[in-house]
Amino acid sequence: MSQLQNKHTNLSTAIQAPLFGFDFFGKERANEATLEVSKIEKVYFYPKTQNIEGKFQIQNRRYLGNKFKLINFIKDIVNEKCGEITSFCDIFAGTGVVGEGFNDKNIKVISNDILLSNYLPLKTFLDAKNVNIDGLKKKINLLNSIKSNDDNYFSKYYGGTYFTIENAKKIGAIREKIESIAESDEEKFALITSLIYAADKVANTVGHYDAYRKNLDSINPLELLAPTINLENNTNNEVYREDANTLIRKIKCDVLYMDPPYNSRQYCDSYHLLENLVEWGKPEVFGKAKKMDRTHLKSQYCLKSAKKAFEDLIENANCKHILVSYNNTGEKKDGRSNSRIKDSEIVNILKKKGEVEVFERDYRAFSTGRSETDGHTERVFYCKVNN
Ligand SMILES: C[S@@+](CC[C@H](N)C(=O)[O-])C[C@H]1O[C@@H](n2cnc3c(N)ncnc32)[C@H](O)[C@@H]1O
Repeated sequence: MSQLQNKHTNLSTAIQAPLFGFDFFGKERANEATLEVSKIEKVYFYPKTQNIEGKFQIQNRRYLGNKFKLINFIKDIVNEKCGEITSFCDIFAGTGVVGEGFNDKNIKVISNDILLSNYLPLKTFLDAKNVNIDGLKKKINLLNSIKSNDDNYFSKYYGGTYFTIENAKKIGAIREKIESIAESDEEKFALITSLIYAADKVANTVGHYDAYRKNLDSINPLELLAPTINLENNTNNEVYREDANTLIRKIKCDVLYMDPPYNSRQYCDSYHLLENLVEWGKPEVFGKAKKMDRTHLKSQYCLKSAKKAFEDLIENANCKHILVSYNNTGEKKDGRSNSRIKDSEIVNILKKKGEVEVFERDYRAFSTGRSETDGHTERVFYCKVNN
């Protein structure tokens, strides 16, 4: 039986429905008139976060565009369209929650992100194979007990703005200490991951680091917790920190899931502070937001060349199925024009690889279960790759 209780909307109907704000007009209209958009009306409840004392989970982090609430929607599409799979690649992984949703002893998860502040958590949750959890907990206790009265690199730049002075001093001191106490790469990655999640919990921000909030009222003390890792599921997994267009030429998978940035907002700008904390090269930082040089971290998917990069990636994909998430943040005056790649372009590029279907879901329904919409939809483009 179908997992997806959907209503097929023929494009010609969709064009008349302002609610959806489709973007399939223009030159290719004749080609696409036969394209069906499946409007999924099933109510989804996202996986419940278990509050385990002293521990945190992969989704306990604020990250722009993270797909935690959409995981069951994505899983339904994979179940219905791809059947049994043995490998799943999340090539723009961010927090890694989508890959984690498929992480199972029988499925090899390949996870990749260009930022080091994502790579280390991905290594920890999806690739750790031998880390000693008890040893890790002892080190976490040690780090939590650090008394940090002295100023350091981190407190100098980020104290009193993004964090309280006390928390900033402690974060800097803990980061320094990790360098000397970690006994293996896996342990070091896990301790830094723990620090990223703990820092994010007490950051005086709205979930990204483009700016800090005026009133410094995030005053809870910093506390490191232990990551919840299922070592058994990670046996076959692989984690990378590469440009997606480079990596795609080296890997093979059943399902390729792509969730690239969709507008000009660079993730390295929004998460510069965490990246700086993880890299720990202590560079000069600039401006009110105290950002370091991020030239090496810029993504083509945020630039005018996004379409070209997307086309290149799809062309070089060695897989059986492709799923692409591309965001639509509601009915703004300029419609979807802030998106770097048009929906019609995504469809046409995917069509060169195989048959394409589009699934769409109102975003609000994910969080409230209510049927009304605020115009913000999440769309997944599915392509069954020709043999
Ligand atoms: C929309 S976010 C992914 C969110 C993710 N699905 C989640 O649930 O957390 C896009 C991600 O792509 C990464 N990224 C951008 N350009 C990249 C590139 N060229 N290669 C690899 N990763 C890239 C960004 O760092 C960001 O984490």
